[in-house]
Amino acid sequence: MNRDKSNYNNMIYKKLSLSVLLFAAGFLTASAQKSPQDMDRFIDVLMNKMTLEEKIGQLNLPVTGEITTGQAKSSDIAAKIKKGEVGGLFNLKGVEKIREVQKQAVEDSRLGIPLLFGMDVIHGYETMFPIPLGLSCTWDMTAIEESARIAAVEASADGISWTFSPMVDISRDPRWGRVSEGSGEDPFLGAMIAEAMVRGYQGKNMERNDEIMACVKHFALYGAGEAGRDYNTVDMSRQRMFNDYMLPYEAAVEAGVGSVMASFNEVDGIPATANKWLMTDILRGQWGFNGFVVTDYTGISEMIDHGIGDLQTVSARAINAGVDMDMVSEGFVGTLKKSVQEGKVSMATLNTACRRILEAKYKLGLFDNPYKYCDPKRPARDIFTKAHRDAARRIAAESFVLLKNDDVTLIPGTPAEPLLPFNPKGNIAVIGPLADSRTNMPGTWSVAAVLDRCPSLVEGLKEMTTGKANILYAKGSNLISDASYEERATMFGRSLNRDNRTDQQLLDEALTVANQSDIIIAALGESSEMSGESSSRTDLNIPDVQQNLLKELLKTGKPVVLVLFTGRPLTLTWEQEHVPAILNVWFGGSEAAYAIGDALFGYVNPGGKLTMSFPKNVGQIPLYYAHKNTGRPLAQGKWFEKFRSNYLDVDNEPLYPFGYGLSYTTFSYGDIDLSRSTIDMTGELTAAVMVTNTGTWPGSEVVQLYIRDLVGSTTRPVKE
Ligand code: NOJ
Repeated sequence: MNRDKSNYNNMIYKKLSLSVLLFAAGFLTASAQKSPQDMDRFIDVLMNKMTLEEKIGQLNLPVTGEITTGQAKSSDIAAKIKKGEVGGLFNLKGVEKIREVQKQAVEDSRLGIPLLFGMDVIHGYETMFPIPLGLSCTWDMTAIEESARIAAVEASADGISWTFSPMVDISRDPRWGRVSEGSGEDPFLGAMIAEAMVRGYQGKNMERNDEIMACVKHFALYGAGEAGRDYNTVDMSRQRMFNDYMLPYEAAVEAGVGSVMASFNEVDGIPATANKWLMTDILRGQWGFNGFVVTDYTGISEMIDHGIGDLQTVSARAINAGVDMDMVSEGFVGTLKKSVQEGKVSMATLNTACRRILEAKYKLGLFDNPYKYCDPKRPARDIFTKAHRDAARRIAAESFVLLKNDDVTLIPGTPAEPLLPFNPKGNIAVIGPLADSRTNMPGTWSVAAVLDRCPSLVEGLKEMTTGKANILYAKGSNLISDASYEERATMFGRSLNRDNRTDQQLLDEALTVANQSDIIIAALGESSEMSGESSSRTDLNIPDVQQNLLKELLKTGKPVVLVLFTGRPLTLTWEQEHVPAILNVWFGGSEAAYAIGDALFGYVNPGGKLTMSFPKNVGQIPLYYAHKNTGRPLAQGKWFEKFRSNYLDVDNEPLYPFGYGLSYTTFSYGDIDLSRSTIDMTGELTAAVMVTNTGTWPGSEVVQLYIRDLVGSTTRPVKE
């Protein structure tokens, strides 16, 4: 398939939006005007002065320990910086702190080489955007790029020069919690999003002080772990690898991404971190990547548990495979000198890795101005601004997917109408364990967010309906009946303040509130930490006590809107059958509460379309639209036929397919007009279609075009 951008623009109708890329007053550094030869000369001179230890030091990336995102913490950072044993640091927050540490590197170490400051800026910095899976449901490259641009403006204002994003792992298994961090199941859409994010973060070659280096991750195939269990074994054919999984990583490289993060999993029996075929032959040889490769958190020392050697062996294997920087393991600083002396790692290999780190610093302009990202005046000016928050609110509403919207009769004697949107008036009950939590709103991987600053749904709706409607609230249930499960699902300061009342007491209170209301908004689903890293699930239902609450709310006979918070596709078979309206809001970021109000009250028309199939039950997984036909396909419309590829107990179709999403309005499509009837291997054609809004609401539509290669020398998917 030709993945040319111009084709893509013809395939996907770009939604009109008022988005304006917000370029805060950035400035160019002197390195912007320098040539690659200037860079080589500069680095030659510098490296000639460096000792073996100082070169190895550049390859070391400890974590500050202030924000814990993994298992280990590094210590004695200051002493190590002084000795030249640190190349960068990550997850330190605050421009003053970063400036101070940079000063140590520049003034206290022998050669004064500046540090990189990295962070997991995944879907926003303090202004949070929807989780990446939600963001992908906008199918709006302008909005996605804008979100990354704003994240870069804010992060760089606070001292950060490097983000561990975009995460582009294709996944077809919603049991895996990290599907929330990616763009769903489709390689083509994933590739376009990867490019948009790299452009947003890096801007024009990271020249300005509000452009930062991106890091595409996790290379490679991390989303294909067996049984959806995080960090689990991956094994797949080269066919599947290159047709379905590699495209987004490659697209990020083509877009000029500055760094790549190795994945935790193995590929062909060798951990990615030590996989030379992956890190050198494919990444550099085939794709021409010329930035640096960093491991994931303790990716090197974990190879001891993978069973391929001791720390010295695995460290040597990593650098010999083409990995340049060691995140947290301290395998490089601890063992590389010995390996060089013993001839297990050549000086040339070490020099190459060191040069790549220095090149990144040079390209970022840090040798010209180590304090490029340390302007103490910037945070107040550039972080969590009104303009950024307005963009976050607009984009959040764009990411919501309307899964169901039945006609109901709200006023007896009047004709039935779609339940959503509705006018904010009378008594509106907002019920559920996710209704009044601030910390749950931003979603997983919001490490820089000020958690209690985001209004809860109840708070946001109250603010929006003052003088028009009464918002009533009851918690209704805990997140899950099992208290220890709830604890595991609400870590990192995201407690939902478990209620000590019995399930019945919580329910009784909710029903009292529900009975006083004209309409019920049930705020249910997953807590934000039920998806994300190390949050795999085998049961994808809305948790037990919440489901029970929903059933009881429906029994009141009042109209119920399910506002679904989730970081992954859930199995909603019962809900689809019984609940009149379902609005999937993912985790919409810092402005989510207002954006949900905008969608419920019809101030915006939610136009999101799913980028991952929602299964009917867990047994259907992996389930994805671009499957093969097989030699025994099921005839269309059938759900079981003996000796066909199907199940006895459920049909093959998803509950909600890839690309699905309703709207408050309707669209009609004219005939497709093709610019030509044949194309050769490198040819292009344009498909044009007239789309008309035939309903009564303004709205935007994601026009989707799928292709099928009917006859080939190898089998092809039924739809791409
Ligand atoms: C582990 C995660 O896999 C990765 O995505 C993240 O960037 C690092 N930890 C650093 O926090």
